[in-house]
Amino acid sequence: MPAMQAEQTETSGETLLKATDIKRVFGKGNAGVTALSDIRLDIPAGSMVALKGRSGSGKTTLLNILCALDEPTEGQVFFRGKEITGLPAKERNALRRKEIGLVFQSFGLIPLMSAYENVEFGLRIAGAPVKGNREAAERALERVGMRERMKHRPMELSGGEQQRVAIARAIAHEPALLIADEPTAELDSRMGLQVMRVFRDLVNRSGMTILLTTHDPGIMELVDHVIALEDGKIVSETTNHKPLI
Ligand SMILES: Nc1ncnc2c1ncn2[C@@H]1O[C@H](COP(=O)(O)OP(=O)(O)OP(=O)(O)O)[C@@H](O)[C@H]1O
Ligand SMILES: [Mg+2]
Repeated sequence: MPAMQAEQTETSGETLLKATDIKRVFGKGNAGVTALSDIRLDIPAGSMVALKGRSGSGKTTLLNILCALDEPTEGQVFFRGKEITGLPAKERNALRRKEIGLVFQSFGLIPLMSAYENVEFGLRIAGAPVKGNREAAERALERVGMRERMKHRPMELSGGEQQRVAIARAIAHEPALLIADEPTAELDSRMGLQVMRVFRDLVNRSGMTILLTTHDPGIMELVDHVIALEDGKIVSETTNHKPLI
């Protein structure tokens, strides 16, 4: 990925996430589906990267492998230079809990809990020590502009606000990497833009690295790098030297 590597040396120089020759086959023999092949990528630390591609092109499969939820059939993934493929489940879970935050299209908030309780509960189930949880949850809600509304339940919030609470839950443990699978797909363009602004702020102010998937052409202008997938292969990579946010 020449364009991204050039950018990387210009900025922080560190590669947060690297994948080499990833292949993922679901099932066996004639019934096997090759969801990904020949995937090589470098995600520079402190950047916002979008994976785009039609439905079925392999975006979610790739995200799952990059965040150690799934193992590739072939190839290797490195997080800060350390190989994470082949690690025992316990170590992969520990890596995710400490270093990675996940955001999904459908927000995934618990309806009976307030915004604050959702974020605090997220910290608890990730095994964070209870001491300091209140401050961490409130800090995360502040970062996404939802502290004022933290006593509200999800049904009292707009879709964009719910997604911001879900982002607060994903970043409360201050991960280095945020992975978001179609985070704006259920939002109108104005609310989608709010979410993208929150992401940009996390990159600029905390040096977080964000990898997201999207179908929305408008989002390509807002990120630092775009990687296009077609039928499980990378077909292009572009760098925005002046992203619009
Ligand atoms: N667990 C699985 N078992 C079998 N095939 C799978 C599995 N998961 C994904 N696939 C197949 O792998 C391919 C890539 O799927 P994936 O979900 O990664 O696509 P996507 O780009 O995320 O699509 P969408 O935009 O619809 O979310 C598809 O052909 C899909 O049917
Ligand atoms: Mg998907």
